[in-house]
Amino acid sequence: MKKKIHRDILVRFDSLPDVIEHGTINPVNACVNMHDVVKIIAPTQVTAFARYDPVEIIKYPHPTLRYQSKPLKRIDAALRETITEMFQLMYEAQGIGLAANQVDLPYRLFVLNIHEERSKEHEMVFINPVISKPKDPDEKEEGCLSLPGVYAPVRRPASIHLTALNLSGETIEGDFGGLLARAIQHETDHLDGILFIDRLADLVQKQLQDELDQFQKTHDANRSQNVIPPDEIIFDRLAAMESAYCV
Ligand code: NI
Repeated sequence: MKKKIHRDILVRFDSLPDVIEHGTINPVNACVNMHDVVKIIAPTQVTAFARYDPVEIIKYPHPTLRYQSKPLKRIDAALRETITEMFQLMYEAQGIGLAANQVDLPYRLFVLNIHEERSKEHEMVFINPVISKPKDPDEKEEGCLSLPGVYAPVRRPASIHLTALNLSGETIEGDFGGLLARAIQHETDHLDGILFIDRLADLVQKQLQDELDQFQKTHDANRSQNVIPPDEIIFDRLAAMESAYCV
């Protein structure tokens, strides 16, 4: 069952104090957790949340990286702003692609710019991507912004057919090859909770084990200091966002 979301109470977190003060949201019935989610409990039975500003790229093995996102059903101004920030984070990390769950969001979309130049004309947004007709196995080195410093050869089809929507809601459809095909597959994998390290040969994976253990240690330390909240808080927040934007 879906929760009904009224657009008027989708507010930015930075405007939340104003909203509460002016009574749009009754503070008695609102609880704000550390991740910007506002839950309106009885009597309204409406769940509202602030737009979540992506603030950082989450790292392996954060649980959201294993989240299988559902198709987006609407695109609005808030989501467009979120996507602008995703490009910003991607550029800061010197990446060529970034999937929504890498910024802790449950939306089925990713952004790409495979060119050196940071210009709008090279920026691509893929919403609800569906890959088909994989052809010609190929092996190339990949890295991932959620596993900084880790690189390994990954086997993938060299060319694919893709259907997706762009930010204007128009259909993108075509055959893709080269780096673009590889990046599209890497990012679409993210949306299914798959990381490139899952696709490595056993031997290669073993060689990376020390590096992965180090990521695990950092994650465990962040968990123990509550820098990364418990799973139930993460998944409650993802579910609230999903109920507003996804099928
Ligand atoms: Ni990645």
